[in-house]
Amino acid sequence: MLGLQQKVVGAAGNGKQARCVKAAAGAEGRGVNSPLVTRAAATELPPRLKKPAPIILNNQVLHSITDERLDVVYSIADHVEKNVLPILTPVHKCWQPSELLPESSDPDFLDKVQDLRKRASSLPDDYLVVFTGDMITEEALPTYMTMLNTLDGVRDETGASMTPWGRWTRAWTAEENRHGDVMNKYMYLTGRVNMKAVEVTTQNLIGSGMDPKTENNPYLGFTYTSFQERATKTETATPNHTLANSRRCENLPMHLQTETATPNHTLANSRRIMDALFERDPNGAVQAFADMMKKQIVMPAHLMNDNEHDKKGRNLFADFSAVAERTKTYTAFDYADIMEHLVERWRVANLQGLRGEAAEAQEYLMKMPNRVRKLAERAYARRKANQHTDFSWVFNREVQLS
Ligand SMILES: [Fe+2]
Repeated sequence: MLGLQQKVVGAAGNGKQARCVKAAAGAEGRGVNSPLVTRAAATELPPRLKKPAPIILNNQVLHSITDERLDVVYSIADHVEKNVLPILTPVHKCWQPSELLPESSDPDFLDKVQDLRKRASSLPDDYLVVFTGDMITEEALPTYMTMLNTLDGVRDETGASMTPWGRWTRAWTAEENRHGDVMNKYMYLTGRVNMKAVEVTTQNLIGSGMDPKTENNPYLGFTYTSFQERATKTETATPNHTLANSRRCENLPMHLQTETATPNHTLANSRRIMDALFERDPNGAVQAFADMMKKQIVMPAHLMNDNEHDKKGRNLFADFSAVAERTKTYTAFDYADIMEHLVERWRVANLQGLRGEAAEAQEYLMKMPNRVRKLAERAYARRKANQHTDFSWVFNREVQLS
């Protein structure tokens, strides 16, 4: 923490009240002298360390949640226990990647792989690029677990904490882990993509992390994940309806697509956490929602890099996003739809008695979906048509961007 830059900052999402930062120590320093609990019961909460004030490090706001709102987060641990943890599927009921792919111990394994490769031979390059970008996003799961464990009041303090938050974070990650696994094994067997280029991109992405601007603040963090999980669902589910319906993709492994698309219960996790925050602290929750919409939700793979694209002066994530947009896998209109869905889900229009900035946030959120749609229409009108670029993932073949 030697480079810590101490400033007076507004606590974004918490009333933006300027708070003076006095101590040089961050969360780590504070934990050193805190006696830790030696025995953890299943419902035990993490020790309440005094929360550091908002600070700025490398131009990022940290620990912006107020003590009062941190108490709200602690208070919903029972809600997580009763209403969120049970949504996760028990391990014995989960599909596993080996069940969806040719079983390698089967005597006819090679025949099954031949059949899989034959069917995958018709997959077009734009589909492969979108699938690969999604797969790399899934494979960067260590980053998402890290992100959850940055959140004050939520983080798994030991790596095996028995708090509802700790158990939920690990179980969610474990369930998610199957997605990248099955996609990677499938793509490897098809022989259709340059696996080394894909693996380099994944390694770079995990090494780079992500910057969702959630400030260690669970209000912001779960607004982000509520939005992003729905975006991922759109992005993984849409190829089923668009590309898969076209004749050229009639041999898509549909069971694979359907199974790996973010299931509804996964989506429900973050939204149920936010439901509880909206119920117990509507002022804080609506401000957090507006704050994240103002910052804009970055997709988790926004720092992806294959060590080749940037040498051409191009941004790999931007080009992958352009292909996803052109194939209508995930568009700016989807972004507006997700925003609208969450505005309705959390009944933003009906929130009563909001104070000051929370009332402003409510007004802002009601207008935003249509504003985003108008911006998207303008961006589409300005877009240059018929742009192409090559992707290392598909052996440097050119793919249409727009
Ligand atoms: Fe996933």
